[in-house]
Amino acid sequence: MMLVRVLALAALFTCSVRRVRGGGGGGEVTSNILLIVTDDQDQNLGGMTPMKKTKSLIGDAGVTFVNSFTVTPLCCPSRCSILTGRYPHNHMVRNNSVAGNCSSAAWQSTGESEAFPVYLSKRGYQTFFAGKYLNQYGKKEVGGVSHVPPGWDQWHVLVGNSRYYNYTLSRNGVEEKHGDSYADDYLTDLIANRSLQFLENRSPQRPFFLMLAPPAPHSPWTAAPQYSKSFSDVKAPRDGSFDKAAKDKHWLLRQAVNPMTNGTLAFLDDAYRKRWQTLLSVDDMVEKLVRKLDDLQELNHTYVFFTSDNGYHTGQFSLPIDKRQLYEFDIRTPLLVRGPGVKPNITLKAPVLNIDLAPTILDIAGVDAADVDGQSFLPLMAPSLRNGSARPFFLVEHMGEGLSSGDPACPEMGPGLSQCFPDCVCEDSFNNTYACVRTLDGRDDMQYCEFADNESFVEVYNLTSDPHQLENIVKKVDPTILQTMNQRLIKLQSCQGAGCRTIST
Ligand SMILES: *[C@@H]1O[C@H](CO)[C@@H](O)[C@H](O)[C@H]1NC(C)=O
Ligand SMILES: *[C@@H]1O[C@H](CO)[C@@H](O)[C@H](O)[C@H]1NC(C)=O
Ligand SMILES: *[C@@H]1O[C@H](CO)[C@@H](O)[C@H](O)[C@H]1NC(C)=O
Ligand SMILES: *[C@@H]1O[C@H](CO)[C@@H](O)[C@H](O)[C@H]1NC(C)=O
Ligand SMILES: *[C@@H]1O[C@H](CO)[C@@H](O)[C@H](O)[C@H]1NC(C)=O
Ligand SMILES: *[C@@H]1O[C@H](CO)[C@@H](O)[C@H](O)[C@H]1NC(C)=O
Ligand SMILES: *[C@@H]1O[C@H](CO)[C@@H](O)[C@H](O)[C@H]1NC(C)=O
Ligand SMILES: *[C@@H]1O[C@H](CO)[C@@H](O)[C@H](O)[C@H]1NC(C)=O
Ligand SMILES: *[C@@H]1O[C@H](CO)[C@@H](O)[C@H](O)[C@H]1NC(C)=O
Ligand SMILES: *[C@@H]1O[C@H](CO)[C@@H](O)[C@H](O)[C@H]1NC(C)=O
Ligand SMILES: *[C@@H]1O[C@H](CO)[C@@H](O)[C@H](O)[C@H]1NC(C)=O
Repeated sequence: MMLVRVLALAALFTCSVRRVRGGGGGGEVTSNILLIVTDDQDQNLGGMTPMKKTKSLIGDAGVTFVNSFTVTPLCCPSRCSILTGRYPHNHMVRNNSVAGNCSSAAWQSTGESEAFPVYLSKRGYQTFFAGKYLNQYGKKEVGGVSHVPPGWDQWHVLVGNSRYYNYTLSRNGVEEKHGDSYADDYLTDLIANRSLQFLENRSPQRPFFLMLAPPAPHSPWTAAPQYSKSFSDVKAPRDGSFDKAAKDKHWLLRQAVNPMTNGTLAFLDDAYRKRWQTLLSVDDMVEKLVRKLDDLQELNHTYVFFTSDNGYHTGQFSLPIDKRQLYEFDIRTPLLVRGPGVKPNITLKAPVLNIDLAPTILDIAGVDAADVDGQSFLPLMAPSLRNGSARPFFLVEHMGEGLSSGDPACPEMGPGLSQCFPDCVCEDSFNNTYACVRTLDGRDDMQYCEFADNESFVEVYNLTSDPHQLENIVKKVDPTILQTMNQRLIKLQSCQGAGCRTIST
């Protein structure tokens, strides 16, 4: 079946929008938009702690969402959900490889050509992207650096996965190679510099949209020289589910080495510290951008979004480092937003998802996004501009990755994806394929997950009494609750568009 999903009304807005400021009587008021998406920055393990300037310049000046989630905890599928406003079962990007549609030709002709920047561009926005796009972007087999997706006026994009030095960019379709000189090449700084240039050279007549995707805090965690000694006393937090045995959880969790060895602990503490170091450069980038917007007198007309593609873990349930799991540490993300109509210093508990970013941004730009799976959260953060309500529950889905011949580092794991730190622990496998309903409606705070493994494993958590998901209550919980959750899951797994937002059970 060929699904053609076009944002219906967007086609109507083919002419450019002229900027008219002030509202209340005159023509159309359009706002600028800046979206910053970091790579693997967690919300639950202190990921925002080093970002003091970002918290002050965006969070204190706007809203901090304390219940922000990705619908899939893996970079490429999550970024495609951000770009399309769709769950993975609708954008069909399954994992980080081309075979799983990451940057594939099929993605280019479907999700990519309908991504929200296309509609912003049609609406008259000047658009700019810098940083990591999708893990397989720029590879020869998917069109190389000359492939620039539609909707982008300026394109400074990393070939492949996150790095800080020694990388190749597509600079508007032309290859640009970089070495490892801090002053010329440090990627986070380059993203900052090129976005400042874009802002300087913009046309003041039309609104702009920037999407900045720094490599931090993804591995290889290369700090800027001035930050390479920062946080020398910091260690990964030892609370919650840190190094807890996961006896009642699915197969992948049960095979972790518990307790973790000293070698693994030293490794993950080092990773944790370095992650924070790399974030200091992102914090500087945010400061430079906010200051520049202020200097240009655009700050009051600009929405600034700060978020991440997925969460992360460092030792939770004895998994050394990675994401890909259904637990809170991997699916929760930071989300801070400032902008016109958003009151300063507010905290919102309504759940919001990465698939909501596209409809929210299109809502700001005045483009109808009725066909996406997500919903605009502009009404939640700027109730004076729009009315609306939060959804009571949503879907989180992941398709496990592995090497079909088994990972040579850990042959006993079978098809899996192991990481050795220095102990080899499997962090993903084909049977780590799951779908969850996460309920968060102000009364219930529950999670229900079904696995596509050889035993149809089920995990259920009551997050109210057990915020760290230490006890799988599948055998204790009232069976009618299991039945309701299973029904919701069936509907969510095949939902499309408005159907994803209006399931009533
Ligand atoms: C926001 O709250 C913080 C901490 O309570 C305070 O220091 C800051 O001045 C407030 N900022 C604004 C813009 O209200
Ligand atoms: C890749 O995307 C295409 C187009 O959406 C889809 O037909 C195909 O099934 C997807 N592949 C996988 C592995 O999901
Ligand atoms: C960059 O590549 C050069 C040449 O291969 C190498 O010597 C250097 O160590 C690399 N730098 C980093 C930070 O990886
Ligand atoms: C960014 O700009 C600053 C200020 O002009 C400069 O010192 C720095 O070397 C630049 N960094 C990169 C990576 O372009
Ligand atoms: C691991 O570290 C702890 C605390 O530093 C120490 O007590 C213990 O002996 C170490 N274990 C091994 C096997 O080195
Ligand atoms: C932006 O808004 C603030 C608060 O309303 C105001 O104090 C400031 O003068 C405005 N700045 C510009 C450049 O319009
Ligand atoms: C929100 O809804 C209320 C009640 O229906 C209405 O009075 C108000 O004008 C609406 N506000 C906006 C911004 O649409
Ligand atoms: C990614 O997904 C595709 C389609 O399901 C699969 O063929 C491929 O093996 C997966 N890649 C990895 C590394 O698991
Ligand atoms: C998951 O896959 C691994 C590797 O193939 C296998 O050893 C294990 O039995 C599977 N477990 C389940 C519950 O399917
Ligand atoms: C599923 O995999 C588990 C874990 O390896 C194994 O103990 C069990 O026997 C398998 N069950 C079936 C039905 O194959
Ligand atoms: C979850 O825990 C809370 C607090 O202990 C309790 O009130 C509630 O009934 C529990 N919910 C379920 C479905 O067990």
